Amino acid sequence: MATTRSVVITEFGPPQVMTLASRDLPAPGAGEVCLRQTAIGFNFIDIYQRRGIYPLARPTGLGFEAAGVVEAVGPEVADVEPGDRVAYMNAGVGAYADRRNVPAEKLVRIPAGISDEAAASLLFKGMTAQYLLRKTHAVQPGDLLLVHSAAGGVGQILTRWATALGATVIGTTSSPGKREAARAAGCAAVIDLTDPDWPKAFLEATGGAKARVVYDAVGKDTLVKSLDCAAPFGLVVSYGAASGPAPAIDPEWLNKKGCLFLTRPSVFPHNADPATFRANAADLFDAIRRGHVAVEIGARFPLEKVADAHEAAEARAVTGAIVLLP
Ligand SMILES: NC(=O)c1ccc[n+]([C@@H]2O[C@H](COP(=O)([O-])OP(=O)(O)OC[C@H]3O[C@@H](n4cnc5c(N)ncnc54)[C@H](OP(=O)(O)O)[C@@H]3O)[C@@H](O)[C@H]2O)c1
Repeated sequence: MATTRSVVITEFGPPQVMTLASRDLPAPGAGEVCLRQTAIGFNFIDIYQRRGIYPLARPTGLGFEAAGVVEAVGPEVADVEPGDRVAYMNAGVGAYADRRNVPAEKLVRIPAGISDEAAASLLFKGMTAQYLLRKTHAVQPGDLLLVHSAAGGVGQILTRWATALGATVIGTTSSPGKREAARAAGCAAVIDLTDPDWPKAFLEATGGAKARVVYDAVGKDTLVKSLDCAAPFGLVVSYGAASGPAPAIDPEWLNKKGCLFLTRPSVFPHNADPATFRANAADLFDAIRRGHVAVEIGARFPLEKVADAHEAAEARAVTGAIVLLP
C-alpha cells in the first residue's frame, strides 16, 4: 500500500499548529487518481484556514494546489494515465502532502514547457486572475485599473495579463523591493501603501482620473479607501483579506461615491464545473504561451519547513509566489 506524508492541523492558530504525519494511502477509488506530488502551491487562503478565519472541521489537511505525476488510476478514469504530468487547484483542502488521491475531473495536464514548480505556483493564482479579468470585469484596452498587492502572487499575474490586454494598471505595494517587481509586471505607477494618504498619491499618479475597476484583496486596511479611487459607475472587487476581514460597507456609501458596484467573488464557483475549469485553464495556459502571464517564484521551502513559509507570507517578506517542495 502507498503511504503519504501530509500536513495536519488539529487546532487553529500560528504556523506551529501545522504538523507532518505519515499514514497509509488507500488505492484510488472510482473516478480518482493517486498523484505523487512534486510541487505544492502556497496561497494566502491557506493562512486564513490555518488561523480559523475560514473555519474547517478538524483534524484537517491544508492547501488547495499542487502538481505531480499520476502513479495509479482508479476505476472509471478514462482521460488520465499513469505517468501523466498534471496539476489541480480546487480538489478540496489537503494539497500539503507528498502523495494524494484526487478526483480525475479536477486535474489538468501540464503543457510541455511549463515546469511542475511553475504549474503549482500559478494555477490557483492564475485562475483567480483569469476570472477577475474575464468575468468579474471583461478588461478592455484603455481601462484604468487599481491593483493592490501588485507584487504578490495574484497581483503580478493580474497586472501582467491586464496590461497585455491593453489596460493601464496602477499598483500598490508596501516596500521598495516590491515596487520594482510591480513595475516589472507592468504597473504604470506604483503607490506606497504604507502612506496613510495613498488614495491621494493614486490620484496624483493618474492626473486625477479614477479607476474603472479596483482589485482589492487587502481588505481591512484598504477597502473603504478603495471606494474613493473608483470612477463613477466603477467596480470595486473585494476578493481577499490579507490585512484582516473587510469592514461592513453601507450601500448608501456606494451611492454617494458615484453609484459604484461592489462585489466579493471567489475562484471556486467560477471553476466548479469540470468543463468550465478546463476551458479556463486552457485560457490561462494560452496566456502563458503568449507571454501575457509569467511566473515569478519568490521563495521555495521544503514541505517540512511549511511553518517558515507561512511566517514569511504573514511578514509580507516574499515577492511573488511561494512553492513548497515535498
Ligand atoms: N477571492 C478569490 O477568488 C481569491 C483567490 C486567490 C487569492 N485571493 C486573495 O488574493 C490575495 C493574494 O493572494 P496570494 O496568495 O497571491 O498572496 P500574496 O499577494 O502573495 O500575499 C498577500 C499580499 O497582501 C499584502 N498585504 C497587505 N496587508 C497585509 C498584511 N497585513 N499581512 C500580509 N500581507 C499583506 C502583501 O503585499 P504588500 O506587502 O505589497 O502590501 C502581500 O504580498 C489574498 O488576499 C488572497 O486571499 C482571493
